[in-house]
Parts: sequence; C-alpha cells; structure tokens
Amino acid sequence: MEKKNIDWSSLGFGYVQTDYRYVSKFKDGAWDAGELTTDPNVTLNECAGVFQYAQTVFEGMKAYTTEDGHIVTFRPDLNAERMANSAKRLEMPVFPEDRFVDAIVQTVKANAAYVPPYGSGATLYVRPYMMGTNPVIGVKPADEYMFRVFTTPVGPYFKGGAKPITIRVSDFDRAAPHGTGHIKAGLNYAMSLHAIVDAHKNGFDENMYLDAATRTKVEETGGANFIFVTKDGKVVTPKSNSILPSITRRSLIYVAKEYLGLEAEEREIYFDEVKDFAECGLCGTAAVISPVGKIVDHGKEICFPSGMEKMGPVIQKLYDTLTGIQMGRIQAPEGWLKVIE
Ligand code: PLP
Ligand code: COI
Repeated sequence: MEKKNIDWSSLGFGYVQTDYRYVSKFKDGAWDAGELTTDPNVTLNECAGVFQYAQTVFEGMKAYTTEDGHIVTFRPDLNAERMANSAKRLEMPVFPEDRFVDAIVQTVKANAAYVPPYGSGATLYVRPYMMGTNPVIGVKPADEYMFRVFTTPVGPYFKGGAKPITIRVSDFDRAAPHGTGHIKAGLNYAMSLHAIVDAHKNGFDENMYLDAATRTKVEETGGANFIFVTKDGKVVTPKSNSILPSITRRSLIYVAKEYLGLEAEEREIYFDEVKDFAECGLCGTAAVISPVGKIVDHGKEICFPSGMEKMGPVIQKLYDTLTGIQMGRIQAPEGWLKVIE
C-alpha cells in the first residue's frame, strides 16, 4: 500500500481529511449494520438533540506503525468501555464494545495510506463519536443516534513537541463533584473553551484545573491528566471522581511499576504539595507525555527542577517505555496492542 504524499514530520495536531469514515445509525431501539463511507459531511435536522442539548460523547485513540511495519492501536477495548460509560451517563444507547473495536479496525484499515510511517514522529488519530440525531425540543434524550469514526494524521499536540510547557492555575472550574468530569462528553470541552482561549491570550499553554468544591486539589487540564514525580523518584497521579480516567495514565502507572521498578501511586494531590515535586507532565492520547516546566498560580511561579529545556529523567523514561511499547520496540503487556494489519 502506497502512503499519501504528506510531510509527516511537519504535521501539527489538526484535521486532515482522510478517505473513509465509519457510520452506524440507531433507530427504533437498534443499531444498523454500520458501513464505511467516503462522505465526511453529516446532515441533520435543525432540532437534533446534539445541536440543542449537546447530547454527544467521543473518544480519542491512535494508530501507530510499528518498527516491523505493522499497524496497531493501543488498548482499544478501554476506549470502548469508556465510551459505553460516557453514553450511559448522557442517556444514550451503548454502541456494543466489540463492534466499537471492529469499527476502529475497519476505519484504520481503510485509511492505511494515512497512517504515518514508523519514525516519522506522527500518528493516525482516531476519533469515534456519537450524537443524538432526531428533533428534540423538550429537554429529554433523543431516540435516534449516529455513531461515527473518522481518522486524521497528527503530530504533537503542543507546538514544540517534547519541550516543556508553561501552564496556569485556572480560575474556572472544569467539572462539578457529581457532574460529568469522568466521562468524555463534548459539553466538558465546550465549557473549557473560554478558559483555554484566555490562557493562550495570557501566554500559557494550558490550564490546571483544581477541584471545584475546595479548590485545593489538583484535577487535570482541558485535555490530559497530570503525572508528577516526587524528589525521591516516586510517580504520583491525582485520584478524583471528576477527572477523565485516562488510559495513558493507567498504562503509565503499570509501566512505572512493572517495567521501570518505580513506586507509583494514584492519590489525592493537594496543590500545596506541587511545589515540592521534581517533575511534572501531562499525559493523554493526544498529549502522550508533555513535560510541564512551570506552573503559574496568580503570579506565583512553581519552576520544576527539570527546567524548561527538556523532560525530567523519570518522565523521559516513562515516555520512552510507553512509546516503545506503542511502536513495537518494547514487548507490550498481553492484550495492549491490537494488530490491524
Ligand atoms: N483528560 C481529558 C480531559 C482528556 O480529554 C483526555 C484525552 O483523552 C485525557 C485526560 C487523557 O485520556 P487518554 O489517556 O485516555 O487519552
Ligand atoms: C485525546 O487525547 O484523545 C483527547 O481527546 C484530548 C483532546 C484535547 C484532543
């Protein structure tokens, strides 16, 4: 299969239209058989549930070319499970988890020419999503839905790739204690848009959100979980019911313990402790692990000893091991890689 003529190494995190996408529709209580289509546009009634009451959930995952030339995805079963949980919380029908994985495989296979080559620094981002499609004007769930998957080749989420970023403590809250922060609903991202535009305007790359109830505990950023390293080399990551259960974070905890022999712990992290950590990073599918060099809290700066030039040593090891597993350079734990072709 011939690859598309794309300058893979100069890709940022943007939308590049690819050839095929997957569509399945839910009507009269059942999902149809689903199919690949070449049409990237979606035409819906003006009153569709997604337009009026934001009834939409999504997922994010990547396809990688491994060192030996296969195309793989990383733990798609966990994306399937999380999307099912997201759908249930917004009163949407679950797209069956085995069919979710099959839809990913079909879509990536059909767009194999867009999967960036091994070593290019780029990957194929895969975006499954689901929305309420029939007219809804009283506040209630839709009866009809569409599940879709599209792909787009991407480079680093933050400009500058592995260079440490600067973030600020946000005055806006991301998620309420018993709200929807733990699911991947479009509404969580809509309400973060003002905060991120304002952060960028003020020279920051991202927002650190604190827990909405007490504003004392670290939650996450707009699109990634946090990972910290203590001065004695322990990996710690925030535990909260109102953050997205990141598949990258869960994988990194395993990698830290089982591959690197490090202590790793998920626990509540008070913002007051952050100044004492040695390293900080953002982890997620899009972010991979993006190092944080500085956190600004209303003018007060926390500068990590790892500095603004490169990742700290422990985060570098985590990064190398995780990406090594994803690209087939390091043996993956059983079931982590789904070989597509
Ligand atoms: N937190 C938020 C708000 C996200 O949007 C994402 C991205 O998916 C993550 C965390 C990281 O999750 P994952 O590692 O499963 O991609
Ligand atoms: C992902 O990492 O897949 C996400 O959905 C995060 C988003 C900010 C791009």
